[in-house]
Amino acid sequence: MHLDPLDEQILAGEQGETRQKMLELLVALGKVFGAERLVPIKSAQVSGASYKTIGKYGLAWLVSLDAKAVVPAVLNPIGMPRGRWQEMGVDPGFAENQNAVVAAYEQLGIRLDCTCTPYYLYETRLGDHLAWSESSAVCYANSVIGARTNREGGPSALAAALIGKTPCYGFHLSKNRLPRIVIDVHADTKHWSIADYGALGYHAGKLVGNRIPYFRGISPAPDQLKAIGAAMAATGAVALYHVEDVTPEAKINHYDLAGLEIIPVESADIARLFTEIPVEAVAVGCPHCSPAELGEIARLLAGKTVTKPFYIFASQGVIDQNRQVVETIERTGARVYADTCMVVSPVMEKYSAIMVNSGKALAYVPDMCGALARIGTIEDCVNVATE
Ligand code: F3S
Repeated sequence: MHLDPLDEQILAGEQGETRQKMLELLVALGKVFGAERLVPIKSAQVSGASYKTIGKYGLAWLVSLDAKAVVPAVLNPIGMPRGRWQEMGVDPGFAENQNAVVAAYEQLGIRLDCTCTPYYLYETRLGDHLAWSESSAVCYANSVIGARTNREGGPSALAAALIGKTPCYGFHLSKNRLPRIVIDVHADTKHWSIADYGALGYHAGKLVGNRIPYFRGISPAPDQLKAIGAAMAATGAVALYHVEDVTPEAKINHYDLAGLEIIPVESADIARLFTEIPVEAVAVGCPHCSPAELGEIARLLAGKTVTKPFYIFASQGVIDQNRQVVETIERTGARVYADTCMVVSPVMEKYSAIMVNSGKALAYVPDMCGALARIGTIEDCVNVATE
């Protein structure tokens, strides 16, 4: 693997033990996957942020590190909203440990945006090389933006943040970004909601596994693309997909689809995922809400009062840029929380059934929260939260 003189200095320990170990990790990863070189990255997104997932051993490892990020690096959602954890009902012992994790990342120069949608806060462009780790963010970056990132683990994303480079293999190389399977959607999708596209992703992820799907027959908007990718990354291991005439690389390239397996998806495949089970709480914002989604929720909630817990998750940056909208939502009794989400917060474990508008949450809530999950449109979610 080719390394430049600066890399050799780091490997020799001339920039401290942490950077030495981090570069060793990246080089080892590169060797395993056949990378010929490291590639400079524009940004990193680091998972392993909730104390619910990282635990005491992960925290001890973080605290032992001594270096600073050399590229913009954002933290994934943590287990609680930093400024409002008491209000959300987070256990003080958990909050103490979570704050220690956050402080450790801050020491390392990681920005505490705590979001899976860093693309709303920091400009990310077609062709940018990244080291992102949260699966929905990875899928969005690769597919909707046309940036290039592998699905990093927490340690490798952190290592890339501290070194500013990542091994050049996998989705960093054009030859690995070609469609591997075609999905033909046979449905009238003109009025499909974000939830319908999330359900499509939920269904498609199970069919394609880790292959790169090429969709035909749909015209999703950006928030709907976000929903498809997040769900496919959850039920499958999809880190990149293309949509004919929609996603950037599908528009630029003329892919040869001859010989690829074609899987049909019918409207009934999607409709069967929508159930009417009774729920105790409603949670939206998986992935974190865009400004447009917050605006839509505010519009739907206008003049209503919530009758069951209604959680909305977004990044602090998006909340700050949409203060009036957030105030409108919260006047109804719903809560817009930053930094966390329905999957990584332990608070959601107290419910036995949760309604969501996300295919990813539909997949993860049962295992991560121990609750039944029901998917519905955002209109359905507002209706159930206010009935
Ligand atoms: Fe984001 Fe949490 Fe969903 S990290 S994609 S809101 S599970």
